[in-house]
Amino acid sequence: MRIGDRDFRSIWPGGDGESVRIIDQTKLPHALEIVSLSGLDDAAKAIADMWVRGAPLIGATAAYGMALALRQDPSDAGLGHAYERLHATRPTAINLRWALDRVRLAIGRLPPRERAQAAWHLAAEICDEDAATNRQIGENGLALIEAIARQKPAGEPVNVLTHCNAGWLATVDWGTATAPIYLAHDKGIAVHVYVDETRPRNQGAGLTAFELGNHGVPHTLVVDNAGGHLMQHGMVDLCIVGSDRTTAQGDVCNKIGTYLKALAARDNGVPFYAALPVSTVDWTVRDGVAEIPIEQRGGEEVSHVVGMSDRGVVERVRIAPERTPVANYAFDVTPARLVSGLITERGVCEASEAGLAALFPELARKRA
Ligand code: MRU
Repeated sequence: MRIGDRDFRSIWPGGDGESVRIIDQTKLPHALEIVSLSGLDDAAKAIADMWVRGAPLIGATAAYGMALALRQDPSDAGLGHAYERLHATRPTAINLRWALDRVRLAIGRLPPRERAQAAWHLAAEICDEDAATNRQIGENGLALIEAIARQKPAGEPVNVLTHCNAGWLATVDWGTATAPIYLAHDKGIAVHVYVDETRPRNQGAGLTAFELGNHGVPHTLVVDNAGGHLMQHGMVDLCIVGSDRTTAQGDVCNKIGTYLKALAARDNGVPFYAALPVSTVDWTVRDGVAEIPIEQRGGEEVSHVVGMSDRGVVERVRIAPERTPVANYAFDVTPARLVSGLITERGVCEASEAGLAALFPELARKRA
């Protein structure tokens, strides 16, 4: 997608064929800094420190991280070490394990001298697939926006509320929740997005608003607690969020606060969809609340905020008293009963075991 007059993906191979380029997302929206990753340590740090974030992009970066690691040590021990190191970076987004398993399975059976090159090609394939998958999610979700647009008085936009950043910066390209929005906008359908700021790290304010602005999609930034009010006043036609892990029975784990939006949506009869590739489904778990590990991050993300001062300097300021105890749960789980449907690359299905199994019978069967 575009930043200014340039097309970008969120990750791409460097021209030297030996390093990977990413956008340091901790610097957005104030600065566009491209960073080069050239080894396992770089890739692990980029994920852990959230230079890259968003479930599909975490997976894509981990795949390249394996390729970079295998250049340094292609032995079985090297493969195992790289897997463990990358797997430990962040606990909730299942795309991380999905990508690491995929690389280990394909590469582990090759002789060591062939591993690095094969992993490099596989990482590129995972990236291309992710872009195509998200575009397909967009096509499938577009139908939902079109159906609402047909019911609206002429000229009135379809109002979509989204949480966090499930946009192209969270994937390789297009985004999951944003793909239907971009396609609707490009097709000339009037669409307007309410962007939750998404405390504590403000991925909505810093990333989603940045993306939508660069693509020319009308949007309004709102505080996290505004969603219920907007829905009570008929200002939201549709919620679309992303997912970090969706269980076999359709529970959706996503950025903290997603659950509260789903409750407000249910109370106000607003359809609430999660958009996700099948790589986000964890077929090994059913009950998301009981079984999904929820990342807890450092308290300073809550006690402080980072932003640009009126003097044009990026600064971190404290907003709580110095010794206030802080808890920082990064994700929550929205039970399937509150989810109107899952928008996937194979179509839109009910958020249930039967719904997912109907779209992905081969994967659901393997799990059973
Ligand atoms: O902590 P983050 O920024 O990695 O969290 C990202 C989200 O919660 C996204 O909504 C999710 O990964 C879906 S990305 C298409």
